[in-house]
Amino acid sequence: MQNDFLPINGTDYVEFYVGNARQAAHYYQSAFGFQPLAYAGLETGLKDRTSYVLRQDKITFVLTSSMVPGSMISEHCKLHGDGIKVIALWVDDARKSYEETVKRGAKSYFEPYASSDEQGEVVLSGIHTYGDTVHIFVERKNYKGAFLPGFTGWDPVYKPSSVGLRYADHIVGNVGWGEMDTWVDFYHEVMGFNQLISFDDNDISTEYTALMSKVMASSNMYIKFPINEPAKGLKKSQIEEYLDFYHGPGAQHVAMATDNIIETVIALKSRGVEFLRVPDSYYDTLPDRVGKIDEAMAPIKEHGILVDRDEEGYLLQIFSKPVEDRPTVFYEIIQRKGAKSFGKGNFKALFESIELEQGRRGTL
Ligand code: FE2
Repeated sequence: MQNDFLPINGTDYVEFYVGNARQAAHYYQSAFGFQPLAYAGLETGLKDRTSYVLRQDKITFVLTSSMVPGSMISEHCKLHGDGIKVIALWVDDARKSYEETVKRGAKSYFEPYASSDEQGEVVLSGIHTYGDTVHIFVERKNYKGAFLPGFTGWDPVYKPSSVGLRYADHIVGNVGWGEMDTWVDFYHEVMGFNQLISFDDNDISTEYTALMSKVMASSNMYIKFPINEPAKGLKKSQIEEYLDFYHGPGAQHVAMATDNIIETVIALKSRGVEFLRVPDSYYDTLPDRVGKIDEAMAPIKEHGILVDRDEEGYLLQIFSKPVEDRPTVFYEIIQRKGAKSFGKGNFKALFESIELEQGRRGTL
């Protein structure tokens, strides 16, 4: 695209810093249907950390844990619990991506460097974003290997099937009070993204809790980053709850797209993934709100799937409960039927469901 100083081909990978990468990898295999791809650890010459790489269609997760106290990874886990450290972006030129963003005010995470093995060469560079989260630019056009140099193949016997997750639709960041526009400006000015839709707190609040959200997207729309900040309500916003437990800003949820949300949700539930449930009354008014949809209403209601419509079509979505001990990171499963929005019409019903959970946690 013309004037796009930061062309991005897609999300390259999402890296989590976790307490025990081996066990987290098992969870993402067994519960979410990710397939084993690559490994790095003692056997590959690393002494300080272990990483497992899993993939499902175009979604790549890296789970990394520290093997030494006091490391950046250990400290990250100590402060935040298990959480997302890296949202890596696939680019054609990692050096230029770094220069263009740092020139516009990005804080350097690391300068560009090349890394190679017998499969070729990658170039990596990195910048900071909200909280302790970073973006790594990955240039892999001269690389044929499965993941990155330094990793070896990982091919365990245990390989539960995929659940039909296809790509990362969007990744949401929670930032502090009054910081949403700072990060909206960052994605606009430093990374050349544009704002998609704007909500105000009247749009997404209940009697008790509220948030504000703006969506930033790359010019080709391959990358979409909604940014949330808490808003004042009678009780504690779910964003504030996240900030309290994560001890600062961080990635809140990854939305993963499927071509058949009913089948995917049935598979995820059978493997132990738990979802938020809206009150059954949500389904009484659904046909009036969204009109005719392709899917039968019975399984939509049975599995608690949400539906929303915009000018271009509709979408189906559902949200998991947090997957960590702390109420921090969770997942959204989404199926788009033309709609390019994010389910604003569902926020109120969802908030009421989240408030029930917060009430159980004593954090409302
Ligand atoms: Fe979302």
